[in-house]
Amino acid sequence: EKISVFAPATVANVACGFDIFGFAVDSPGDVVELTRRDTPGVRITDIIGDGGRLPREAARNTAGISIQRFLQHIDRTDIGVDVLLTKQMPLGSGLGSSAASAVAGVFAINELLGRPLQTIELLPFAMEGERIACGSAHADNVGPSLLGGFVVVRSYSPLDVIKLDTPAGMFATLVHPDIEVNTKDARFILKNEVSLKNAITQMGNVAGLVAGLLKPDYDLISRSMVDVIIEPVRSILIPQFGEVKQAALDSGALGCSISGSGPSMFALCRDLATAERVGQAMQQAFLAVGITSEAYVSEI
Ligand code: HSE
Repeated sequence: EKISVFAPATVANVACGFDIFGFAVDSPGDVVELTRRDTPGVRITDIIGDGGRLPREAARNTAGISIQRFLQHIDRTDIGVDVLLTKQMPLGSGLGSSAASAVAGVFAINELLGRPLQTIELLPFAMEGERIACGSAHADNVGPSLLGGFVVVRSYSPLDVIKLDTPAGMFATLVHPDIEVNTKDARFILKNEVSLKNAITQMGNVAGLVAGLLKPDYDLISRSMVDVIIEPVRSILIPQFGEVKQAALDSGALGCSISGSGPSMFALCRDLATAERVGQAMQQAFLAVGITSEAYVSEI
């Protein structure tokens, strides 16, 4: 028995919603192929596309650990599977690379075993993948990678995840500059305290973005895509951040910020033509200092 599962890249935080907002894109993404084996245990047979950088040991690999935790939970550690992971996106990119592998892995094992759990119940196992990848079991990448669309993590304890409708025909532009930022480092530099003033501003924007997506109201979405807590700290890790953001806004983006922990940046746009124009402008702004990049456009 064999199964192959694709899980998409995701944009976490979506400007104002650190650790609580995320959305999935069509591509890129990762593919996990599972093959049933007679002897028990989870074995990573190969990883393609990581340049040899990811751990091959199942317990240290995001896909491997998610599958192991799932098998422990359903009390089937007698089962044996070979895992072939194909990375189709860059590591350390802020596109939810570790999350896509974890989600593809746990989704695949659930399917292979005849779906003992519902899709939403797979989330905690994929979050374990995030924990070993960056030290924090955040759900704003695995949530949308698993469920698709735009996801709100209303609470972590207990876990409460909500899928939100987004306006039809809204597009996201993703630009991945050819530099790397490690999520662990990008979390380490954050301050532990937030001023009351900034908390109020951020809460207003979080509420405004949810309302704007649901109504839908593009001006409200645009006004709400502001992050006064995380972006000012993390943007120093991204050369040209201010210029790239301005280029996106000047080209008609509703808003632009860091994708997850960076260095990728994303923009939301009202239509495909704008999203493509915005992508070119953002790439140009990176290129102005010699940074090449990859751009992706996807309906969300
Ligand atoms: N919310 C997480 C962070 C996402 O910003 O650290 C990491 O991709």
